[in-house]
Amino acid sequence: MTNSLRVVGLGGSLRTGSTSLTALGVTLEGVQAAGAESRLIALRELDLPLYSPEHSVPEKARWFAETAYQADAMVWSTPTYHGSVSGALKNALDWLILLADREPPYLSNKPIGLVSTAGGVQGLQSVNTMDFIVRALRGWAVPLVLPVGKSWKSFDPEGRLIDETIADSLRGLGGEVVRAARQFRHEGTCDYAESRQFAAPAPA
Ligand SMILES: Cc1cc2nc3c(=O)[nH]c(=O)nc-3n(C[C@H](O)[C@H](O)[C@H](O)COP(=O)(O)O)c2cc1C
Repeated sequence: MTNSLRVVGLGGSLRTGSTSLTALGVTLEGVQAAGAESRLIALRELDLPLYSPEHSVPEKARWFAETAYQADAMVWSTPTYHGSVSGALKNALDWLILLADREPPYLSNKPIGLVSTAGGVQGLQSVNTMDFIVRALRGWAVPLVLPVGKSWKSFDPEGRLIDETIADSLRGLGGEVVRAARQFRHEGTCDYAESRQFAAPAPA
């Protein structure tokens, strides 16, 4: 068994050239730079059926839930759809009901980094919606979040990120997710105050 921290990225929209998928990939570059392993799960490829408690559980839903459970941390990235997360992301996360009876349940003790892209300025709404879901799933949202507004300015029409400042911030978030995961693995808790990104400014 490997000792490396494992971070699973989940997200993207279902379209070609998805900016939220690109943002997820760049965040995972930061994860790797911080010394952790990463695995990107694109919702477009995962292609889960709509969750229903009544039909049989598809093998890919079991695989997805198990892969999330085995991760030390996750990064979620969604397009902002009508002021909230995409239905595809919410549906995938609903399948994590498969982890309800595990010990510990769901995503306990896993830090989760939150990223969104938005055509306008409502990206923080989808981040906040993800925050609610993180808590319902017993996870820990990393305080540094990255809603990328006016995505048409920062990504080209093929979905490539052309804004290096945003790229650096996304990689920084990836590093922050790894830092939190490292603390959970070693100490079972996380002291966010140690982060330079949240340190109080020195008195003048
Ligand atoms: C169905 C739909 C709803 C959207 N709703 C919003 C919205 O409420 N607020 C906003 O700022 N942008 C909204 N947008 C724009 C997307 O958030 C934006 O284009 C985003 O970057 C798309 O992500 P993607 O490139 O990963 O597909 C919407 C786009 C679609 C297709």
